[in-house]
Amino acid sequence: MAQAGKERNANDDMNEGLFTREGVYEVGIGGDVKKLAEYYSKTADNYEEFCDNLGYSGIQSFARIVERVQPNKEARILDVAAGTGLFGKKLKELGYSAIDALDASQGMLDRARSGGIYKSYICSMVLPDQKTQVPDNAYDVVCVCAGVTLGHISPKAVPELIRMATSGGAVIFGVDCHEEVVKNDPDFKQETIEANLQALVDTGKCTKWTKEVISFFISDDEHLPVYILNVA
Ligand SMILES: C[S@@+](CC[C@H](N)C(=O)[O-])C[C@H]1O[C@@H](n2cnc3c(N)ncnc32)[C@H](O)[C@@H]1O
Repeated sequence: MAQAGKERNANDDMNEGLFTREGVYEVGIGGDVKKLAEYYSKTADNYEEFCDNLGYSGIQSFARIVERVQPNKEARILDVAAGTGLFGKKLKELGYSAIDALDASQGMLDRARSGGIYKSYICSMVLPDQKTQVPDNAYDVVCVCAGVTLGHISPKAVPELIRMATSGGAVIFGVDCHEEVVKNDPDFKQETIEANLQALVDTGKCTKWTKEVISFFISDDEHLPVYILNVA
């Protein structure tokens, strides 16, 4: 338990295995992905309860976008920032059979493993200036649901997501561009993200980018952008 009279912090969450929005933002602001992965690993058992309490409707809408973009249910899909597998489960329910999970947190992946959703589990960090161990052109769809947010996956890592997708494939990612996030990291500004996506089209890395706006949580009625890139 946190000491009486002392303000709670992310370490208190970790010690108690409690996943909170405040805790994950606090660690995110620090910008250390290793520390963030530790936070997720230590609170993994509580993560799904946290999502249930918020009414995490976004995974359903996001999965429908994937289905529209890539209707072939045998397509190879990489679920980046897969966490405990909530989004992968939705894809599986839609009939997809070749989904792999990638996440920086081994604890989250261990929980995902118990659901038997994915074919393989890759523990790796997606960073702007580093390659993951995933080979080039490996997946028809590379998607990130609820992973592009403060201190998690930076919008600057989009070229790394593209690298892992096949030519003719797609990269689909939702962005948390809440005021609090943009205030701490201007790279999350929608105008900046969209200018960078357009540059990827102009330089021939992608043929097109489009945006859809969906609500992620029933409880907070906020709408966030999901970007769809068609890889050249
Ligand atoms: C909010 S959870 C989302 C999990 C899942 N996609 C869902 O919708 O429930 C974010 C996940 O991103 C992972 N993550 C954060 N930063 C990452 C990075 N740079 N590379 C890979 N995974 C990362 C965390 O470990 C965590 O499991």
